[in-house]
Amino acid sequence: MANVVVWAELPGRLREILHPHIVVPPSELAEAAGLLSLLSVRVDEAFLDRAPKLRVIGNFAVGYDNIDVAACTRRGIVVCNTPGVLTSATAELTMALILGTARRLPEGLNLARSGQWTGWQPDQLLGLELDGARLGIVGLGRIGHAVAQRARAFGMHVAYSGRIQDVPYLHRGLDALLTESDIVSIHAPSTPATHHLIGTRELSLMRPGAILINTARGPILDENAVAEALLDDHLGGVGLDVFESEPQIHPALRAHPRALILPHLGSATSRTRTAMAETAAQGIAAVLAGRPPAHPVHGA
Ligand code: DGY
Repeated sequence: MANVVVWAELPGRLREILHPHIVVPPSELAEAAGLLSLLSVRVDEAFLDRAPKLRVIGNFAVGYDNIDVAACTRRGIVVCNTPGVLTSATAELTMALILGTARRLPEGLNLARSGQWTGWQPDQLLGLELDGARLGIVGLGRIGHAVAQRARAFGMHVAYSGRIQDVPYLHRGLDALLTESDIVSIHAPSTPATHHLIGTRELSLMRPGAILINTARGPILDENAVAEALLDDHLGGVGLDVFESEPQIHPALRAHPRALILPHLGSATSRTRTAMAETAAQGIAAVLAGRPPAHPVHGA
């Protein structure tokens, strides 16, 4: 029987899944063998020094850029994540951002709320129709794939960059994808290789008036460069759910009428958050029982 820190109040049958282990609060980290962590908790060497008995971390997220996995591996700590269970929720939110930016919902909402609307006009807030538009997906993993399927249902032409897969979508190099797409949506993991993958040069390749969507991780975009491209009117709009230094949001993006920005809501449905908590807890329970977890992020 071990102690498991559950970092916050989470939904699901956690106590049942973690039984016979005892759920304890973060203040008891020093004695804990398991940790159910959040993506907002930075698990680095200093954190691990405060958790000398830790054997397993279940991260309440599919992304695990908040965790120094190499440091965990060196200490023999297994790290697990929650792939799969949040695919639909995140793909749906991506579609909401695509629809919202393409049809200029932030500007429409502002106008409707302002009391300045003078009535229907033929040329008011004309947007981009998804039917026939080109969607470029950067990183066709589970979520990118789910977005591609949904975009197809809207009549979009889908292309992707990244690892070649056996899928009915056009594969392009990143530069060509950026050049050819009306909407670019980011679905890559945040790694040193994808840090600022989209910066000034890449944004300049995008079509004038194109839209950029990010529901993956903030650091993949150079946020200053994105803000500049929006302020210069090179980008037609941005739909962002994630940011470089959450919870900070670049002031120019926060204020811009063509920026549809959300506070990291990709997986925020009750069903998905419950499934994420239970999946993370199952990983912890497996390791503490000496079984291989279903979703280790490395082979420790
Ligand atoms: C994840 O799981 O990585 C998501 O960003 C959480 O919403």
